[in-house]
Amino acid sequence: MFTVSVIFLVFILLIALSLVAISIFWPYIIGASWTPTSRRAVKKILEMAEVNAEDILYDLGSGDGRIVVEAARKYNAMAVGIEADPFRVIWSKLVIMILRLRGRVKIIWGNLFNHDLSEATVVTVFLWKKTNQRLKPKLQRELKPGTRVVSYVWTFKGWKPVKVDRKAEIYLYVMGQSDQPL
Ligand SMILES: C[S@@+](CC[C@H](N)C(=O)[O-])C[C@H]1O[C@@H](n2cnc3c(N)ncnc32)[C@H](O)[C@@H]1O
Repeated sequence: MFTVSVIFLVFILLIALSLVAISIFWPYIIGASWTPTSRRAVKKILEMAEVNAEDILYDLGSGDGRIVVEAARKYNAMAVGIEADPFRVIWSKLVIMILRLRGRVKIIWGNLFNHDLSEATVVTVFLWKKTNQRLKPKLQRELKPGTRVVSYVWTFKGWKPVKVDRKAEIYLYVMGQSDQPL
Protein backbone atom coordinates (compact mmCIF):
# COMPACT_ATOMS: atom_id res chain seq x y z
CA MET A 1 0.00 0.00 0.00
CA PHE A 2 2.83 2.38 0.96
CA THR A 3 4.69 1.63 -2.33
CA VAL A 4 1.53 2.29 -4.37
CA SER A 5 1.05 5.67 -2.63
CA VAL A 6 4.69 6.64 -3.27
CA ILE A 7 4.43 5.68 -6.97
CA PHE A 8 1.19 7.67 -7.24
CA LEU A 9 2.79 10.73 -5.60
CA VAL A 10 5.84 10.53 -7.86
CA PHE A 11 3.52 10.24 -10.87
CA ILE A 12 1.54 13.36 -9.83
CA LEU A 13 4.79 15.24 -9.16
CA LEU A 14 6.12 14.31 -12.61
CA ILE A 15 2.93 15.55 -14.28
CA ALA A 16 3.08 18.82 -12.31
CA LEU A 17 6.75 19.32 -13.18
CA SER A 18 6.08 18.61 -16.87
CA LEU A 19 3.27 21.19 -16.91
CA VAL A 20 5.54 23.78 -15.28
CA ALA A 21 8.29 23.01 -17.82
CA ILE A 22 5.82 23.26 -20.73
CA SER A 23 4.46 26.50 -19.31
CA ILE A 24 7.90 28.10 -19.02
CA PHE A 25 9.85 26.75 -21.98
CA TRP A 26 7.39 25.83 -24.75
CA PRO A 27 6.04 29.36 -25.49
CA TYR A 28 9.60 30.67 -25.33
CA ILE A 29 10.78 28.13 -27.93
CA ILE A 30 7.83 28.42 -30.32
CA GLY A 31 7.02 32.12 -30.19
CA ALA A 32 7.28 34.49 -27.25
CA SER A 33 7.18 34.50 -23.50
CA TRP A 34 4.35 36.00 -21.50
CA THR A 35 4.08 39.73 -20.86
CA PRO A 36 0.53 40.96 -20.43
CA THR A 37 -0.76 43.89 -22.46
CA SER A 38 -1.84 46.74 -20.16
CA ARG A 39 -5.61 47.30 -19.85
CA ARG A 40 -5.13 50.71 -21.46
CA ALA A 41 -3.37 49.20 -24.47
CA VAL A 42 -6.04 46.47 -24.78
CA LYS A 43 -8.65 49.23 -25.07
CA LYS A 44 -6.61 51.05 -27.73
CA ILE A 45 -5.92 47.87 -29.71
CA LEU A 46 -9.63 47.05 -29.93
CA GLU A 47 -10.52 50.65 -30.75
CA MET A 48 -7.91 50.84 -33.50
CA ALA A 49 -9.21 47.60 -35.04
CA GLU A 50 -12.76 49.00 -34.82
CA VAL A 51 -13.97 45.68 -33.42
CA ASN A 52 -17.73 45.18 -33.61
CA ALA A 53 -20.39 42.53 -33.06
CA GLU A 54 -19.90 41.12 -36.58
CA ASP A 55 -16.25 40.32 -35.94
CA ILE A 56 -14.45 37.07 -35.21
CA LEU A 57 -11.31 38.11 -33.38
CA TYR A 58 -8.31 35.81 -32.95
CA ASP A 59 -5.68 36.66 -30.35
CA LEU A 60 -2.57 34.68 -31.24
CA GLY A 61 -0.87 33.85 -27.96
CA SER A 62 -3.83 34.87 -25.82
CA GLY A 63 -2.11 34.79 -22.42
CA ASP A 64 -4.66 35.26 -19.62
CA GLY A 65 -7.38 36.02 -22.19
CA ARG A 66 -7.70 39.73 -21.52
CA ILE A 67 -8.05 40.71 -25.21
CA VAL A 68 -10.58 38.04 -26.15
CA VAL A 69 -12.62 38.71 -23.00
CA GLU A 70 -12.72 42.46 -23.65
CA ALA A 71 -13.62 41.95 -27.34
CA ALA A 72 -16.59 39.81 -26.32
CA ARG A 73 -17.66 41.85 -23.29
CA LYS A 74 -17.39 45.34 -24.68
CA TYR A 75 -17.97 44.79 -28.41
CA ASN A 76 -20.02 41.60 -28.42
CA ALA A 77 -17.57 40.04 -30.90
CA MET A 78 -16.91 36.31 -31.16
CA ALA A 79 -13.35 35.72 -29.99
CA VAL A 80 -10.84 32.89 -30.12
CA GLY A 81 -7.58 32.78 -28.19
CA ILE A 82 -4.78 30.37 -29.04
CA GLU A 83 -2.30 29.87 -26.22
CA ALA A 84 0.60 27.47 -25.65
CA ASP A 85 0.95 27.86 -21.88
CA PRO A 86 -1.37 25.34 -20.16
CA PHE A 87 -1.69 27.37 -16.95
CA ARG A 88 -2.81 30.49 -18.80
CA VAL A 89 -5.24 28.39 -20.81
CA ILE A 90 -6.78 27.04 -17.58
CA TRP A 91 -6.86 30.51 -16.05
CA SER A 92 -8.50 32.16 -19.06
CA LYS A 93 -11.05 29.36 -19.40
CA LEU A 94 -11.98 29.89 -15.73
CA VAL A 95 -12.40 33.64 -16.24
CA ILE A 96 -14.52 33.03 -19.32
CA MET A 97 -16.71 30.58 -17.40
CA ILE A 98 -17.15 32.96 -14.44
CA LEU A 99 -18.04 35.84 -16.76
CA ARG A 100 -20.47 33.57 -18.63
CA LEU A 101 -18.78 34.24 -21.94
CA ARG A 102 -18.47 30.65 -23.09
CA GLY A 103 -20.93 31.25 -25.92
CA ARG A 104 -18.72 33.98 -27.39
CA VAL A 105 -15.15 33.16 -26.40
CA LYS A 106 -13.13 30.03 -27.06
CA ILE A 107 -9.59 29.28 -25.90
CA ILE A 108 -7.53 26.70 -27.76
CA TRP A 109 -4.48 25.13 -26.13
CA GLY A 110 -1.76 24.75 -28.75
CA ASN A 111 0.75 26.28 -31.09
CA LEU A 112 -0.78 29.15 -33.05
CA PHE A 113 1.21 28.08 -36.13
CA ASN A 114 -0.82 24.85 -36.27
CA HIS A 115 -4.28 26.39 -36.35
CA ASP A 116 -6.31 27.62 -39.27
CA LEU A 117 -7.04 31.34 -39.01
CA SER A 118 -9.21 31.73 -42.10
CA GLU A 119 -12.44 32.60 -40.24
CA ALA A 120 -10.84 35.59 -38.47
CA THR A 121 -11.88 39.12 -39.38
CA VAL A 122 -9.53 40.64 -36.78
CA VAL A 123 -6.22 39.20 -35.59
CA THR A 124 -4.29 40.60 -32.63
CA VAL A 125 -0.69 39.73 -31.79
CA PHE A 126 1.79 40.62 -29.10
CA LEU A 127 4.65 38.27 -29.87
CA TRP A 128 8.28 38.84 -30.70
CA LYS A 129 9.83 40.56 -33.73
CA LYS A 130 11.13 37.29 -35.23
CA THR A 131 7.83 35.51 -34.50
CA ASN A 132 5.92 38.20 -36.39
CA GLN A 133 8.26 37.61 -39.34
CA ARG A 134 7.62 33.85 -39.21
CA LEU A 135 3.88 34.52 -39.01
CA LYS A 136 3.65 36.70 -42.11
CA PRO A 137 3.34 33.93 -44.76
CA LYS A 138 0.67 32.17 -42.68
CA LEU A 139 -1.38 35.36 -42.36
CA GLN A 140 -1.03 36.00 -46.10
CA ARG A 141 -2.06 32.45 -46.92
CA GLU A 142 -5.03 32.16 -44.59
CA LEU A 143 -6.58 35.57 -43.93
CA LYS A 144 -9.24 37.05 -46.19
CA PRO A 145 -8.61 40.44 -47.85
CA GLY A 146 -9.81 43.18 -45.51
CA THR A 147 -8.93 41.30 -42.31
CA ARG A 148 -7.46 43.71 -39.75
CA VAL A 149 -4.25 42.65 -38.04
CA VAL A 150 -3.15 44.61 -35.00
CA SER A 151 0.33 44.14 -33.62
CA TYR A 152 1.38 45.46 -30.25
CA VAL A 153 5.02 46.60 -29.80
CA TRP A 154 6.49 44.83 -32.89
CA THR A 155 5.80 45.69 -36.52
CA PHE A 156 5.58 43.29 -39.46
CA LYS A 157 8.75 44.25 -41.27
CA GLY A 158 8.07 45.00 -44.96
CA TRP A 159 4.34 45.59 -44.49
CA LYS A 160 2.80 49.04 -44.50
CA PRO A 161 0.56 49.81 -41.49
CA VAL A 162 -2.62 51.74 -42.29
CA LYS A 163 -2.66 53.26 -38.80
CA VAL A 164 0.05 53.72 -36.21
CA ASP A 165 -0.03 54.88 -32.61
CA ARG A 166 3.69 55.30 -32.00
CA LYS A 167 3.34 56.31 -28.38
CA ALA A 168 1.24 53.26 -27.57
CA GLU A 169 3.28 51.07 -30.00
CA ILE A 170 0.19 49.77 -31.80
CA TYR A 171 0.21 49.02 -35.54
CA LEU A 172 -2.86 48.29 -37.66
CA TYR A 173 -2.49 46.35 -40.92
CA VAL A 174 -5.19 45.43 -43.42
CA MET A 175 -4.67 42.28 -45.45
CA GLY A 176 -4.71 42.91 -49.17
CA GLN A 177 -3.42 46.47 -48.63
CA SER A 178 -0.62 46.40 -46.10
CA ASP A 179 1.03 43.25 -47.43
CA GLN A 180 1.27 44.35 -51.08
CA PRO A 181 4.70 45.20 -52.53
CA LEU A 182 5.40 48.95 -52.26
C1 LIG B 1 3.54 38.75 -24.86
S1 LIG B 1 2.33 37.58 -24.37
C2 LIG B 1 0.80 38.36 -24.88
C3 LIG B 1 -0.42 37.79 -24.17
C4 LIG B 1 -1.75 38.42 -24.58
N1 LIG B 1 -1.97 38.35 -26.01
C5 LIG B 1 -1.83 39.85 -24.13
O1 LIG B 1 -1.81 40.71 -25.02
O2 LIG B 1 -1.89 40.11 -22.92
C6 LIG B 1 2.57 36.31 -25.62
C7 LIG B 1 1.77 35.07 -25.34
O3 LIG B 1 1.86 34.23 -26.49
C8 LIG B 1 1.99 32.88 -26.07
N2 LIG B 1 2.66 32.20 -27.20
C9 LIG B 1 3.89 32.45 -27.68
N3 LIG B 1 4.14 31.70 -28.77
C10 LIG B 1 3.01 30.96 -28.98
C11 LIG B 1 2.66 30.00 -29.96
N4 LIG B 1 3.49 29.67 -30.97
N5 LIG B 1 1.44 29.45 -29.90
C12 LIG B 1 0.57 29.80 -28.90
N6 LIG B 1 0.86 30.70 -27.94
C13 LIG B 1 2.07 31.28 -27.99
C14 LIG B 1 2.81 32.96 -24.79
O4 LIG B 1 2.62 31.84 -23.97
C15 LIG B 1 2.25 34.24 -24.16
O5 LIG B 1 1.17 33.97 -23.31
